[in-house]
Amino acid sequence: MSSPLSNITPYIYGTTRLGDSSLPREDRLKVAHAAMDAGVWFHTSHTYGDALEVLAEAFAAEPAKIPPLIIKIGWDNIDQLRGVIEENLKPLGLPGMQLGQLCLGGELAEDFANGGECYKVFRQLKDEGLVQGYVVEAFPWTSDAPLRALRAGYTEGIIDGFIFYLNPLQRFASNALWDELLARKQNIIAMRTVSGGPVHSLRDVPGFAWKDYLQKRAVEVAPIFERSGVATWTEFCVRFAHSFPLVKATVGASGKLDNLNAFLAAKENLSPLPADIMDEITTLQRRWSDEFDIRAEPWTM
Ligand SMILES: NC(=O)c1ccc[n+]([C@@H]2O[C@H](COP(=O)([O-])OP(=O)(O)OC[C@H]3O[C@@H](n4cnc5c(N)ncnc54)[C@H](OP(=O)(O)O)[C@@H]3O)[C@@H](O)[C@H]2O)c1
Repeated sequence: MSSPLSNITPYIYGTTRLGDSSLPREDRLKVAHAAMDAGVWFHTSHTYGDALEVLAEAFAAEPAKIPPLIIKIGWDNIDQLRGVIEENLKPLGLPGMQLGQLCLGGELAEDFANGGECYKVFRQLKDEGLVQGYVVEAFPWTSDAPLRALRAGYTEGIIDGFIFYLNPLQRFASNALWDELLARKQNIIAMRTVSGGPVHSLRDVPGFAWKDYLQKRAVEVAPIFERSGVATWTEFCVRFAHSFPLVKATVGASGKLDNLNAFLAAKENLSPLPADIMDEITTLQRRWSDEFDIRAEPWTM
């Protein structure tokens, strides 16, 4: 069977904002419908507020437009997997998902790194049609297990790709994992397309960047973006992700129609950014990874 990644859309609508109850529900439904009308894949999780309820309502209204889904599943041991899958599929009334995003912690991460029982369970869930394929999530502090599994060849034939923050300000696979992914030509799904918002807001508006390090990185990246001559940050970021030939899609969120439309417009031009622009940013990312990311307390960035 071919990988679900062969049909993925280059822009994936991230649904966190659909679960933000400070936005009127009607507005969130409108955005969900607009993204469904556009025919793009969605990325979701039962941990995103009431996003699944909003999605369920939109899907029930237009079942012909239900998008393919990437859903977060995991977490710390094999026995949790089925429960998490059900927690997501049941509210949506769906029999399965296109891609399960494996969020690996604790025993499950260790089992994955060692080629253990989890691979049997992944195959069973696939045979049962609950999950059609898998992408493995990586953070700087969780890059080791995927790296060990990749090097040992355990992921072959069952893992379709890897998913992590990859945008001009963040590349959350450690340098070692990143190099291994490129050497082994693994599919990548990039997350947080615009890194949380426009680079000038991240740089200049106090409190806009949710962590100081993002503000500091925006100071370094804003002049590179300006020099590129690309008209908008959204276009720059979508093209940044797709400048890596192994990146199949980028996941970006919005609770506003205008900003969703900017993502949808940007996916029409996936031409790579100029090589010198990419070189500058990838050099920064390699430095940030060693100097900061892999030293950070888990879940603090
Ligand atoms: N571990 C994980 O699995 C994980 C972690 C983080 C994210 N994700 C996935 O990735 C998706 C995106 O992540 P994210 O929301 O953190 O990052 P993002 O897509 O880079 O940023 C979204 C934010 O940027 C704003 N924005 C988007 N376009 C804009 C524009 N043209 N002008 C001004 N503001 C704009 C949005 O505000 P408005 O709503 O006001 O437009 C929203 O607050 C999530 O929805 C989720 O599906 C997954």
